Amino acid sequence: MLAEKRWFITRPEEHRGGIDGEIRRLRELSRSDNSLCLVARREGKVIGLLVCTGGPLHRMRHTAKLEVMVAQDARGGGLGRALVQASVDWLDAHETVEKLGLSVFEDNERALALYASFDFIEEGRRPKEYKLDDGTYRGDVLLYRWSR
Ligand SMILES: CC(C)(COP(=O)(O)OP(=O)(O)OC[C@H]1O[C@@H](n2cnc3c(N)ncnc32)[C@H](O)[C@@H]1OP(=O)(O)O)[C@@H](O)C(=O)NCCC(=O)NCCS
Repeated sequence: MLAEKRWFITRPEEHRGGIDGEIRRLRELSRSDNSLCLVARREGKVIGLLVCTGGPLHRMRHTAKLEVMVAQDARGGGLGRALVQASVDWLDAHETVEKLGLSVFEDNERALALYASFDFIEEGRRPKEYKLDDGTYRGDVLLYRWSR
């Protein structure tokens, strides 16, 4: 999915550790009691991934950072909404995690519309946070949702 580049910060060659690294990361996440990892598969192929990474320090244990991605050919069919709904349900039921935060490129209208529909609130903007290969900049928006 990273190979698409358009909506991701990490370039494919910067994804350290390859498949083994990803397996290690997912194992660590599944052992962490303030993190969540959901995978969507179609005919054995991964078509969606949602990760909420819980704050690693004691004073951050009530927070988690959300990342979500759906394969290009699976978009627009409700999978992104289903994944985010599951993370919001997880947040609302969780004993420790109270704040779900994320950052999204300011021109990612699809993702912004999705988060707005779950009442995520803007907490700030970082102008020109990223510089692209063509020399142009992109800012991002920081959003959060508090547990109900
Ligand atoms: C953002 C993303 C996860 C959404 O997943 P998806 O499966 O395409 O989303 P859904 O089909 O569930 O649609 C969810 C909402 O997105 C919005 N949306 C969908 N298609 C859209 C489009 N073409 N234009 C604008 N908004 C759109 C709508 O608000 C839609 O709500 P609805 O269910 O009321 O129609 C997916 O597009 C993706 O992986 N994008 C690349 C990675 C990315 O941007 N991740 C988020 C970074 S923070």
